[in-house]
Amino acid sequence: MKEILVLYYSHRGSVRALAEEVARGVHRVPGAVARVRTVPRVSTVCEAVEDEIPGSGPPYAEVSDLEECDGLVIGSPTRFGNMAAPMKYFLDGLAGAWVNGTLAGKPAGVFTSTSSLHGGQEATLLSMMLPLLHHGALIVGLPYSEPDLNTTLSGGTPYGASHVAGVDGNPRLSEEEARLAAALGRRVAETAVRLAGVK
Ligand SMILES: Cc1cc2nc3c(=O)[nH]c(=O)nc-3n(C[C@H](O)[C@H](O)[C@H](O)COP(=O)(O)O)c2cc1C
Repeated sequence: MKEILVLYYSHRGSVRALAEEVARGVHRVPGAVARVRTVPRVSTVCEAVEDEIPGSGPPYAEVSDLEECDGLVIGSPTRFGNMAAPMKYFLDGLAGAWVNGTLAGKPAGVFTSTSSLHGGQEATLLSMMLPLLHHGALIVGLPYSEPDLNTTLSGGTPYGASHVAGVDGNPRLSEEEARLAAALGRRVAETAVRLAGVK
């Protein structure tokens, strides 16, 4: 089985909802399974010491998750047009994985959520691609052959999956957003399965 790491940070649930659809899309691909992981919050004043196991939701990611995965999809809320600090903090701790080429050649996608329609989704998605490119991952996006990309009035971009949560932070995905998130997971998983067949 090819394992696709679905790695996300979510404070109020919107990115978690996208992660669930991404994982659903991964599981639609024969020979692929999703491994869902999150990252702890970080404090603005000092390094917080979290319990090793979160109170709810998936476990925290470890470097071994990156080593063992055959592809990955990472998600973060948009914070001022960029990924949130907890995801950036986790990625900044991956120097060893970078030196070792842990993610080199593995397919990778990205997803985000914002409160407003034009609040910087694509900037955030691009910002999450940068460290993945440094690690040598192969970026997988969403093509316009996904019909929802042409018709969505909420989230969903060629750069990756997304959700518009509104000012109230509603985590409920539109049908298009859910299908596009699943399509992203499916495409990363299909790519991992295909790459495994190339020697
Ligand atoms: C500090 C901060 C900065 C934010 N910056 C933006 C932004 O630049 N654009 C935007 O549309 N929403 C912004 N938001 C709203 C979040 O991106 C939005 O609520 C998102 O859906 C949260 O995802 P979550 O429910 O997974 O935590 C910001 C929220 C916070 C707390």
